Amino acid sequence: MFPRTRSPKEDPLAMAAVSGELHRPGFAATERRDAWWLAPLAQGLLLAVLICYANWAAYQGNNYRVGGYLSPLYSPLLTPEWFPFSPAFLILLPPILFRATCYYYRKAYYRSYFLDPPACAVAELRGTGYRGETAFPLILQNLHRYLFYITGVYLIFLWADVVHACNFDGSFGVGVGTLVILANTTALTLYSFSCHSLRHLIGGNLDCFSCSAVNRVRHGAWKRASALNEHHMLFAWLSFVTVCSADLYVRLVASGVIHDPRLL
Ligand code: FES
Repeated sequence: MFPRTRSPKEDPLAMAAVSGELHRPGFAATERRDAWWLAPLAQGLLLAVLICYANWAAYQGNNYRVGGYLSPLYSPLLTPEWFPFSPAFLILLPPILFRATCYYYRKAYYRSYFLDPPACAVAELRGTGYRGETAFPLILQNLHRYLFYITGVYLIFLWADVVHACNFDGSFGVGVGTLVILANTTALTLYSFSCHSLRHLIGGNLDCFSCSAVNRVRHGAWKRASALNEHHMLFAWLSFVTVCSADLYVRLVASGVIHDPRLL
């Protein structure tokens, strides 16, 4: 026998649910007593600084190459004669969209810039009618997996840039710039390889990891991707900082502001 359903008269909460008049807490209402606003504020400021620098550097169109060093904001370098603007504008759209649709960055900017919600268990600004990422424009966030494929090609060029950064007038060498470029490419590789889309690509759509030799191999790869994925937030910040730092280093050397010390 099923328990009897209580009528709205007997249960005020049921009445509210039936009439759709559930009380919505005001913006930023929360039971939290910690400094919950600190993380969204700090990450919003850092993100703004990095975005402003990257835009400024991409706009310059000069001092992006010196010797074997190439700024990652300009890689792969395309300089067709018919294009009158900075060559960075020819190649930056896929990496920008890749970051903009990244699962981690979504969380960061939804909280810091849209306050939606500002933090866990803190009331958001919006009213009713929330459709999340199921309707335009946010449904476009689903393009992330395709941007992962495209930007994966960029990694090949970035590793080629590391090789070029070891070339000093035709002979092998290592300068501080070589290490800066190597650190950036490593950070970008870790960022890509810890992507949620890659983890799904490797281990998704499988009902049984142990049912075949191929699935067992995929399980092993999925565990490694999952281990990297746990640190995705770290790699997201690290790689953005190293991209801007590597550009700044190349820019300062190319413009003669600093000298690139040769280590080997
Ligand atoms: Fe962040 Fe894919 S989820 S790069």
